Amino acid sequence: MTTILVTGASGNLGSALLPRLTPTYDVRPMSRRSRPGWVAADLATGKGVSEAVRGADVVVHLASSPTRTRATDVEGTRLLARAAATAGVRHFLYMSIIGIDRVPLPYYRRKLEAESVARLSGVPFTLLRAAQFPQLIDTFLKASSRLGPSLIDRRLVFQPVAVEDVAGRIAELIAGPPVQGIVEFGGPRRLTLDELATAWKRGSCRPTWPIHIPGRFGRELRAGALTTSAEPRGTRTWEDYLSRLSAEAGRGRG
Ligand SMILES: NC(=O)c1ccc[n+]([C@@H]2O[C@H](COP(=O)([O-])OP(=O)(O)OC[C@H]3O[C@@H](n4cnc5c(N)ncnc54)[C@H](OP(=O)(O)O)[C@@H]3O)[C@@H](O)[C@H]2O)c1
Repeated sequence: MTTILVTGASGNLGSALLPRLTPTYDVRPMSRRSRPGWVAADLATGKGVSEAVRGADVVVHLASSPTRTRATDVEGTRLLARAAATAGVRHFLYMSIIGIDRVPLPYYRRKLEAESVARLSGVPFTLLRAAQFPQLIDTFLKASSRLGPSLIDRRLVFQPVAVEDVAGRIAELIAGPPVQGIVEFGGPRRLTLDELATAWKRGSCRPTWPIHIPGRFGRELRAGALTTSAEPRGTRTWEDYLSRLSAEAGRGRG
C-alpha cells in the first residue's frame, strides 16, 4: 500500500484531506504535537523530519507558517525535500498559492522560494497553487469590520475555493504522475470583495466604507492576480460556505 506523509495535517486543508485519503492509502499525518497514530516533527527546527519521511512513497506538504515563514516554509521545505530525496520518495506535492509571483507580500515571496526548493530537490514534484480558502476570506472580512463598518476595497477580486475541493484535487494529482510544474486550482466563481462582503453580511445593515488599496498590491488584486482560468475548478461556492457557517452557529445556539 502506498504510504503518504501529510505535513500540516492538523490545519484547515489537512483536516479535509485526511478523510479523503485514508480509505485508499496508508496515511501518515504529521504535526509538531504528538498525537496517537501521527508522526511528530518540527520543520522549523528539523526535529523528527527524517524519521517522519522514512518509508514514505509520497509527501503532501501543506505545513506553513505565515509568521515563521523562512524557517518553516523555506528551510523546512529544504529539510523535508532532502529527506524525501534520501528516502526515495516518488512524488512530492507542495501546496502553494495562486499569484505568489505577482502579489508583493513577504509571505508570498517565501512561498515562491519554497516552490524553487521543491523544484530543485531532485524529487519528482507537483506544485499545486490554490486560490484563497473561504476561511481566510471570512477572517479578512471580520478584521476589516472590527470597527463596525466594513472597510474594504470593493474591487479586489478573489476566487474562493473550498478546502474539500482542494483535498479532492490533491487526491487526483497524487493518483497520477508528478506534473513537474505548476497546477492552478480556483473556486467556481471570481467575485469582487464587494460581492463577497454583501453575501457575508447576510442582510445585516452594516455599512461599507470603501477604501482604495494603493500601490502594486492593490493593483494586482484588482487585476485578478489571485484568480485563475484553469480547469477544473472547485464546485463549492462562497454561499455554500456561509450557509454551513450559519447552520453550525444555529446548532451551537440550539
Ligand atoms: N489559507 C488559504 O487561503 C490558502 C490558499 C492557498 C494555499 N494555501 C496553502 O495551503 C497550505 C495549508 O493551509 P491551511 O490554511 O490549511 O494552513 P493552517 O490551517 O494554517 O495550518 C498550518 C499547518 O502547518 C503546520 N505547521 C506550522 N508550523 C509548522 C512547523 N514548524 N513544523 C511542522 N508543521 C508546522 C501546523 O501543524 P501543527 O500546528 O499541528 O504542528 C498546521 O497543521 C499552506 O501551505 C498554505 O500556504 C492556503
